[in-house]
Amino acid sequence: MPRATDLTSDKQIGLLSGVDFWHTRPLPVHDLPPATLSDGPLGIRLQRESADHLGVGNSHPATCFPSAVTLASSWDLDLAREVAVALGAEASQLGVDVVLGPGLNIKRNPLGGRNFEYFSEDPFISGRFAAAVVDGLQSVGVGACLKHYAVNNQEYYRFVVDAVVDERTLREIYLSGFEYAVKRGKPWTVMASYNSVDGELASQNHRLLTQILRDEWGFDGVVMSDWGAVYERDVGITAGMDLEMPGGHSLSDNDIQDALASGQLTDRQVETSAQRVLDLLARVQGNEVGSVEPDHDELCRRAAAAGAVLLRNDDTLPLDRRASIALIGGLAEVPRFQGAGSSLVNPTRVTTVRDAFADAGVEVTYAEGYDPATSTSSAAQLDEAARIAASADVAVVMVGLPPAYESEGFDRDTLSLPAAHDELVSAVAQANPRTVVVLSNGAPVTMPWRDEVAAIVEGYLGGQASGAAVVDVLLGDAEPGGRLAETFPERLEDVASTPWFPGRPRQVEYREGLFVGYRHHVSGGPAPAFPFGHGLGYTTFDWSDPQLSSPSIRRGQVLTVSITVTNTGTRAGSEVVQIYRRDLTGVVLRPERELAGFAKVHLEVGGSRRVDVEVPARSFEFWDVRTDEWRCPTGRFELVAARSSADPGLTLSLQVDGDATDSADPPSGPALAASDVDFAARLGRSIPAPRPTRPFDRDSTFAEIATTPAGRAFRAICWRATIAGTELSDADRPMVERNFAELPLRAAARFGDGKLSWRTIDLVLRLCNLGRR
Ligand code: BGC
Repeated sequence: MPRATDLTSDKQIGLLSGVDFWHTRPLPVHDLPPATLSDGPLGIRLQRESADHLGVGNSHPATCFPSAVTLASSWDLDLAREVAVALGAEASQLGVDVVLGPGLNIKRNPLGGRNFEYFSEDPFISGRFAAAVVDGLQSVGVGACLKHYAVNNQEYYRFVVDAVVDERTLREIYLSGFEYAVKRGKPWTVMASYNSVDGELASQNHRLLTQILRDEWGFDGVVMSDWGAVYERDVGITAGMDLEMPGGHSLSDNDIQDALASGQLTDRQVETSAQRVLDLLARVQGNEVGSVEPDHDELCRRAAAAGAVLLRNDDTLPLDRRASIALIGGLAEVPRFQGAGSSLVNPTRVTTVRDAFADAGVEVTYAEGYDPATSTSSAAQLDEAARIAASADVAVVMVGLPPAYESEGFDRDTLSLPAAHDELVSAVAQANPRTVVVLSNGAPVTMPWRDEVAAIVEGYLGGQASGAAVVDVLLGDAEPGGRLAETFPERLEDVASTPWFPGRPRQVEYREGLFVGYRHHVSGGPAPAFPFGHGLGYTTFDWSDPQLSSPSIRRGQVLTVSITVTNTGTRAGSEVVQIYRRDLTGVVLRPERELAGFAKVHLEVGGSRRVDVEVPARSFEFWDVRTDEWRCPTGRFELVAARSSADPGLTLSLQVDGDATDSADPPSGPALAASDVDFAARLGRSIPAPRPTRPFDRDSTFAEIATTPAGRAFRAICWRATIAGTELSDADRPMVERNFAELPLRAAARFGDGKLSWRTIDLVLRLCNLGRR
C-alpha cells in the first residue's frame, strides 16, 4: 500500500473525491482498486451499471432487513449485531466495501421524514444500536459509515437549514449517541450531513469534524460528505472532511488545486486527508467477492417479530388458529415493509400477510378495504369489509403509511394515517369488537379508534419477511418482542419540539432543549398515547429483589443494577429491564427521567434469572457549558427499574460523589425556551438572524429561484437534463421532486457531472436578481 507521500499532488487530490456516484478513485499504477460504497443502512442498495444517476432506481436484489426503527424496538443489541453481520456478508458478496449506515440521528419530532431510518428519540439507545451495527459490519471486513453527522433531524430544507442548538443540548442529546458509537464501535467512516450547525455547514465544520470527532473522541477514519453536501472544498478539507461524494466531476480537483495555488490549503492538509482515504482502502483490501448467495429471510422474520410492539391487547391475541379470521386492508397484499428514499432495497423476495396466513395453513376471508395505491376507499369497499368482519370471529385490519406519506426528502404534515385507513378501522371495529389492528409505518401515528379495538400491533417497517413475522406474532408462534424506542404522542401539540419544527427554510431553533421525546412527557408534559419503552407480551413477569452493586458511586466507576426477573405466565417470552436515572441534586436543570441502561432477557415458562444492567458513570454527568467538559453533580440520585418511561417501577437510591455541588447551570430558565430571552440565555449569545433568502445566491434553491422567469426557465432546463427522462417509482417520485425543489444551486453544481460551472450559476443568479426588480 503506498503512502500519501509516495503520490504526486494530483493523485493525492484525486483521492479526495469519488470517481462516480459510488466509488472512490482507483490508483491503477499502485494496483489499487476503488472502494465501493453503497446504501444502507439496512439492506444493500448496489446500483447496476445501467442505473440512473439519481441513485434511487434499479439495484441488485438484496435482503431487505427491518428498518432501524424496528431493530431498535427489539431493544436487543445481540440481534442488531447479528443482523449487521448478515448485512456485511451480503455486502461482501456484492463487492461492497463500505455500507452507508447506520443512521443514528435523534428523532426530534415524530413528523421527521426519515425517522424510520433512525433508531430512537433517545441518544443512549441510539448510540448502543449504532455501535452494535458498526461492530457487526466491521467484524466481517466491511466498513460502516455513521450518518448523518450532525444535528440532521429533519428533511425540510435539509441542504440549507441551519440548526441552532445550545451547547448542552448538542452534547447531551444530539452528539452523545455519535460519541458512544465512535468510541465503542470505531467506525471506519463518518458521513457529514447536509445541514449547517450553528452557522457552519456540517461538511465544513472544523469544530464538529476535527475538534470533537477526532481530537476529543479519537476517530481515526475517513469523513465523507453526504451526497452533494460539499460547497467550499478547501474549507471542508481544512475542517477535516476528507472525501467528497459523489464524484466524477472536475469541480473538486479544480477547487483544491486553486486553493493550493492561492495558499488557502497546504500540501500537508491534502496529504493528511489523502492518507486517511488510503488507510480506508487498506482496511477494505482483500475483501473477496463471495460466490454463495446468502439467504437471510429467516433472520429477517425473527428480527421483525422481535421488533414488533404489542401496544394494546385485551386477550384477543394470540389468535386461536381455529377461529374464523377476516383479513382486511390492501397492505395485506401490497405490503409496506421498508422506507422510501436512498435506503430503498430491491428485496430478494417479499412475504405478504395474506401469503403468510396461507403458508401457516390458516384460512382467512379477505377484503381490500381501500386501494393500497391511492389510500382511498369507496363505500362499497367499506361495506364489504364490515360485512366480512361481522361474520368472522376476529378481524385483522392492516393499515399504515404509504411512501407518499413518509419518505426521505420531506417531513410528514400530520401524525394521521390516511383518512381511508382510519375510516376502515372504525367501520370494522363497529362490525366486530374483536378487531386487531396491525400497523405498517416508520414513525408514530395517531389512532383515533384506539379504544374501539381489541388489540394493536405496531409492526413498523419489518423488512421483506415482515408478512411472515406479523402472522407469527398474531398466531403466537413468535412473541411480539418489541418496546417502543420512541413516544407515541396523543397529539402533535403535545410534542415539545412542535412549535419549532421544522422551522424556517434557513433556520431551525432547538428551543425545547433537552426535553426531546419522553424527556418532556415525564417532566410534567402531557401523558402520551403510548410512552417510550412501552410494549406488551404474551406472558407475565415478576420483578423482585432489585439491588445496586454499591450504595454510592464516584466518577469513572460503573454501577450495576441487579434484579430477579421471573416468567410467571404460560408462555416463553422476553422482558426489557429499563433503568432510568433521576437526579435529585438540583445542580442542573434535567428531565425527570433519562434512560441510563437496559437489558433484554428471554425466559421459558417458570424461568427466573438475575439480570444485571450496567449504568455507566456518564449517565450521571451533564455537559457544563461554563467549563466545556462533562461534570457530575454530587448528591442523591435514584435509579428506577421500569417497564417503560411512564412506569413507576422499582426505585433504588444512591449517593453520587461528583465534582459539582452548587447550581452549575447558568440561568437556564424554563425547560422549553419559548421566549427569545430564554433561548438567548440558553445559547449564551443572541439568537442568530436567519440567513436571508433574498437576494438569490448560491444557497438559493430551485423552488426559490423559480419565483422569477429566469429561474423558472433554468429550473426547467436542469430538470429536463437530469430527471425528466428517468423512470421513477411511486416510492421514489415524491422524494426526488421535493429534493429537486429544495436543492441549492451550489449542490446542483456538485450533482451536475461538471456540466454546471460556477460561471453559469452566477450568471443565472444575476438574472434572477435582476428579475426581482
Ligand atoms: C442520503 C444519504 C445516502 C446518500 C447516498 C443522500 O441523499 O442523505 O443517507 O447515503 O444520499 O445515496
